[in-house]
Amino acid sequence: MCAACMGSDRKSYALDTNYTIAITGKGGTGKTTIAAALVACLINRRCVPVLAVDADPNSCLDQTLGVQVVKTIGRIREESRDAGAGQSSGISKRELVEMRINESLVEAQDFDLIAMGRPEGPGCYCYANNLFGDVIRELSKNYPYIVIDNEAGLENLSRRLYSRIDLLVLTGDPSKRGVQTVRRLYDLAREMGIEYDRLAVVINLVREGSEPEGLEDLAKEIGADYLLMLPVDDGIALAGEKGQSMQSIPMTNPVLKGIDRFISQLSFAGETIRGEENKSA
Ligand SMILES: Nc1ncnc2c1ncn2[C@@H]1O[C@H](COP(=O)(O)OP(=O)(O)OP(=O)(O)O)[C@@H](O)[C@H]1O
Ligand SMILES: [Mg+2]
Repeated sequence: MCAACMGSDRKSYALDTNYTIAITGKGGTGKTTIAAALVACLINRRCVPVLAVDADPNSCLDQTLGVQVVKTIGRIREESRDAGAGQSSGISKRELVEMRINESLVEAQDFDLIAMGRPEGPGCYCYANNLFGDVIRELSKNYPYIVIDNEAGLENLSRRLYSRIDLLVLTGDPSKRGVQTVRRLYDLAREMGIEYDRLAVVINLVREGSEPEGLEDLAKEIGADYLLMLPVDDGIALAGEKGQSMQSIPMTNPVLKGIDRFISQLSFAGETIRGEENKSA
């Protein structure tokens, strides 16, 4: 049974509709780490169930969350292109896709995960993409919170597989170039017509005393609603090196504390995201 339908002890703090957070940024700036930290902090606040979406074909969000993907959506899409698949059994193509996507969901305590896999190969995938978009949007409705870990580019977001992005998070490193890259990414998102409700800039891997300059100006220029700096942290680095899950890191960790405080500032439709505060933060 998937996290969305599990027992009644699941106390959900869902808002009227769901809240979708999409994270993107330059390679290696901590997108996957931040996505996993958001999932861990939402769970800690009992803002559950969370749908974690791994939209980076080279990512390891599953490992960072202590689970393992068996089949990606890309793989299912390829398989579903087999002529006549499922037709002999009287199942419609949509039902078949729905079934396969549900089967590919990695189910864990308080969250489920789907991995998008590789983008489509040559040939026309419009039909498949529309169908998959429909099914994924339908599936998303079961979760009050959705966290999407994207690849460094914005292509995946531009394919509009998600009904809406409530919060777009642009990650960067604290170097001068890192901050400029956030600006470029923002310009690109505008050019590509990526729509979102709120914008956050998260500068990760900040060393004490070396906070980047010009950050507040940038945030003002691009109309960022939130600006967050996360410290470089040995606990996170070590867990990454050892392949340990985010949930194994105590909530007293400075990066998790930063993310939890960030969540407490988020609001949707005039309401703050509720849930239980991080007691250790
Ligand atoms: N605040 C931090 N302190 C210490 N190490 C960190 C921190 N954030 C991320 N890392 C480490 O930096 C590395 C890159 O992080 P991560 O994989 O999250 O980046 P990414 O943006 O998802 O990368 P990619 O573009 O390759 O997908 C990882 O080894 C991770 O453990
Ligand atoms: Mg990543």
